[in-house]
Amino acid sequence: MKKTKFFIRRAEASDAEAMQKIFSGPKAIWGTLQLPYPSLDRWRKRLAEPPEGSFSLLACVDDDVVGQLGLYTFPQNPRRRHVGQLGMAVRDDWQGKGVGSALMQAAIDLADNWLNLTRLELEVYTDNEPAVALYKKFTFVIEGTLKNFAYRDGQFVDVYTMARFREK
Ligand SMILES: CC(C)(COP(=O)(O)OP(=O)(O)OC[C@H]1O[C@@H](n2cnc3c(N)ncnc32)[C@H](O)[C@@H]1OP(=O)(O)O)[C@@H](O)C(=O)NCCC(=O)NCCS
Repeated sequence: MKKTKFFIRRAEASDAEAMQKIFSGPKAIWGTLQLPYPSLDRWRKRLAEPPEGSFSLLACVDDDVVGQLGLYTFPQNPRRRHVGQLGMAVRDDWQGKGVGSALMQAAIDLADNWLNLTRLELEVYTDNEPAVALYKKFTFVIEGTLKNFAYRDGQFVDVYTMARFREK
């Protein structure tokens, strides 16, 4: 079967509807810290005024936005300048088709070769098997478990903290 090629670009203020669509998906909500019924207005504001040092990357198929990855850095904190934090979600109907891998590859290139980050860190629900598999594929390791980290669909859930250390 022919592999889909994903075009990666930076998110713009005009992408608010696409973001709302991604984060309306039950699986995207389940895997992240987002709440149901995402607000279009809030996404417009978030995209129009991104925090300094944040990079919101989108994966697109033609003009359709099918996934998002946020890379957050700490330009104001000299002792954390080597660190990036990651969060991501693929639109429910595009999961398991390589979108997450394409986004992660782009984020790692940005982190390693342009931002000079040596530690990438994230939190992932311990029962989120596809996400843990994706992160391990990109050499993230589990550093620890945070108990009852978040409330999800009526229950408290644990997260793993995972990190990737640049080799060179
Ligand atoms: C987790 C998520 C980002 C992964 O993105 P994706 O596009 O589905 O992942 P890919 O198709 O690139 O697959 C990457 C790897 O994950 C693993 N994987 C994918 N789907 C899987 C599944 N259902 N079960 C177990 N492993 C799976 C595979 O190892 C795959 O590697 P491969 O290319 O060698 O087969 C995506 O499923 C998602 O957005 N889920 C909902 C929101 C979420 O959980 N975000 C993460 C917050 S920490």
